[in-house]
Amino acid sequence: MAARDRFRAAVLTRFGAPFEVRVVEVEPPEEWVPVEVRAVGVCGRDVVVWRGGFRNLRPPLILGHEVFGYHDGEPVGVFPAVIPEECVDRPGSSLECPYQILGEHVAGGYAERVYVPPWLLVRLPDSDFPKYAASVCGVATMIHAARVAGIGPGSRVLVTGASGGVGVHGIQYLALLGARVYAYTRSPEKAELLESLGVRAVTSLDFYRSEGRVDAVVELVGARTINESMRALRPGGNLVLVGNVTGEPVAIERPALFVMREIHMHGSAAYDIHEYRAAVKLAASGAIRPFYRAYSLEEINNAYRDVLSGSLVGRAVITP
Ligand SMILES: NC(=O)c1ccc[n+]([C@@H]2O[C@H](COP(=O)([O-])OP(=O)(O)OC[C@H]3O[C@@H](n4cnc5c(N)ncnc54)[C@H](OP(=O)(O)O)[C@@H]3O)[C@@H](O)[C@H]2O)c1
Ligand SMILES: [Zn+2]
Repeated sequence: MAARDRFRAAVLTRFGAPFEVRVVEVEPPEEWVPVEVRAVGVCGRDVVVWRGGFRNLRPPLILGHEVFGYHDGEPVGVFPAVIPEECVDRPGSSLECPYQILGEHVAGGYAERVYVPPWLLVRLPDSDFPKYAASVCGVATMIHAARVAGIGPGSRVLVTGASGGVGVHGIQYLALLGARVYAYTRSPEKAELLESLGVRAVTSLDFYRSEGRVDAVVELVGARTINESMRALRPGGNLVLVGNVTGEPVAIERPALFVMREIHMHGSAAYDIHEYRAAVKLAASGAIRPFYRAYSLEEINNAYRDVLSGSLVGRAVITP
């Protein structure tokens, strides 16, 4: 079905350098199908790739795994783990099956068009694409992380990096779940906004001295906050490491505290297609308020500037 095609894309030609927006030529595998991209989110993961944080990747690259647009005139999202068809419905599929990531090993969505295997398409109930690009990856990530950390109704949970794309949408999911959420941001202005989402916003990780310790930490920032967030965790609590925004090594400053409190530390990697579909449903229902700023493909370097300067709440969304 697919043949050689040409379209505009933002190309990463050198790690850490501005993207080049130009016409690219691709030759996708036979059975892959095109999606006309209408909105694609700039994930914190993309920023890690852009910096050169994944050693197995080499430019030129077309990034972008938070892809929403039209296939055959129908609104769709693309499940971003490129896995064999027989794996796609298996729970936890992305870990158990061989996989590649859209926008990393496979040309991604910072483009007018993207080619994907048809079994990764998820039908959307409406075509408000930026809403999905803003929130679906973050919510699906949090659904998975909450499962890993045993977070449920009544759990007291600290989320660091709570104003970012994963954070601001993920904390809304946790609040819906019935968790008591402490949402950490460095910025008092952003904290004010987070308070409107049914969570308790904090600008210091010392909050536990007056509020008490939490049952779980969802660590989105990583190296810069993990030692303080560990202090906020109750004995036997669960810390789930989801991200490490600066890419620095994560060091445990007080191993005695880790040992004596019998802290459980988990990793949480992405999400399966069931979690992705659940996130789409929540976004469609209006239960999750999307936070984003939209940019054209030509403005992609402005989007990165704003993401890196920390001036955004939620996602930068590219609308090619
Ligand atoms: N494991 C997974 O499944 C998965 C999925 C998606 C993303 N991720 C990872 O999760 C992390 C967050 O992703 P994202 O998309 O939410 O990123 P993002 O939109 O860039 O947000 C990151 C947030 O981290 C905070 N932050 C940044 N630098 C910081 C520092 N030096 N100290 C303290 N806080 C800092 C900022 O909050 P304030 O400015 O408000 O303080 C910012 O809003 C990234 O590392 C990404 O790679 C993992
Ligand atoms: Zn993402």
